[in-house]
Amino acid sequence: MLNKYKETADFINLKIKHQPEIGIILGSGLGGLGNKIKNPIFIKYSDIPNFPVSTVEGHSGQLIFGELGGKQVVAMQGRFHYYEGYDMKFVTFPVRVMKFLGADKLIVSNAAGGMNPKFRQGDLMIINDHINNFPEHPLRGKNIDELGVRFPDMSKVYHAEYIRIAEEIAKANNISIHQGIYIGSSGPTLETPAEYRLFRTFGADATGMSTVPEVIVAHHQGMKIFGMSVITNESVRENPDEITTHEEVQDVAGLVEPKMTKIIVGLIERM
Ligand code: HPA
Repeated sequence: MLNKYKETADFINLKIKHQPEIGIILGSGLGGLGNKIKNPIFIKYSDIPNFPVSTVEGHSGQLIFGELGGKQVVAMQGRFHYYEGYDMKFVTFPVRVMKFLGADKLIVSNAAGGMNPKFRQGDLMIINDHINNFPEHPLRGKNIDELGVRFPDMSKVYHAEYIRIAEEIAKANNISIHQGIYIGSSGPTLETPAEYRLFRTFGADATGMSTVPEVIVAHHQGMKIFGMSVITNESVRENPDEITTHEEVQDVAGLVEPKMTKIIVGLIERM
């Protein structure tokens, strides 16, 4: 794999002018932040050697290099999900490549279902910890010692200073925000009522089908991490006759995206 990461980074390096300092992963319906990047260079996933190709509707599938909040960034518009059939080495491949390109900070976003009874549809949650509930671990297999240690400590994954700054920005902009624990599962099914209750019993506040693998790999290779969830649906529906659809998840994410973008751009300025 090491050679593949290098090969992909070499290909990308020929196309970009500046080395990115920050990697950003934009979740379902949250791609709008990508349009704020100045002097953008777009590279489609399908044009990048060794990259998998995203298959889900609403995930446009490209890297965007350029300037945001005064920093050089690389954003993934569309990510690779485990439920699409990729194994974890490919779900996390772009995060490895980001590090090879020079990024030592990672911002991840996602759409998530809220189990915390205080959370409402359309709320934002800063991720301050996570639970890995995926059936496959992204670091399983021979460790690449050049990238990180065999047994990474996971007690300080989400960078405390970034959380503090994000809280400050939210307050200054009158954006109400929560902090909480994200549990990542395989999907593609959403949870049964019993599963949502189980996850709540685990201590999780929100659930989704991404983020945890990428964060584990980013942490393994020493990146500083900030994560944010948009609560697109509540685990207990006010109207029990309604169900959760992908369209609803994307619509709510799209509506909340400007608030999330405000916080993320403010954070990047201060990173
Ligand atoms: N469960 C899992 N993934 C999700 C959800 C959910 O309720 N909402 C958005 N992504």
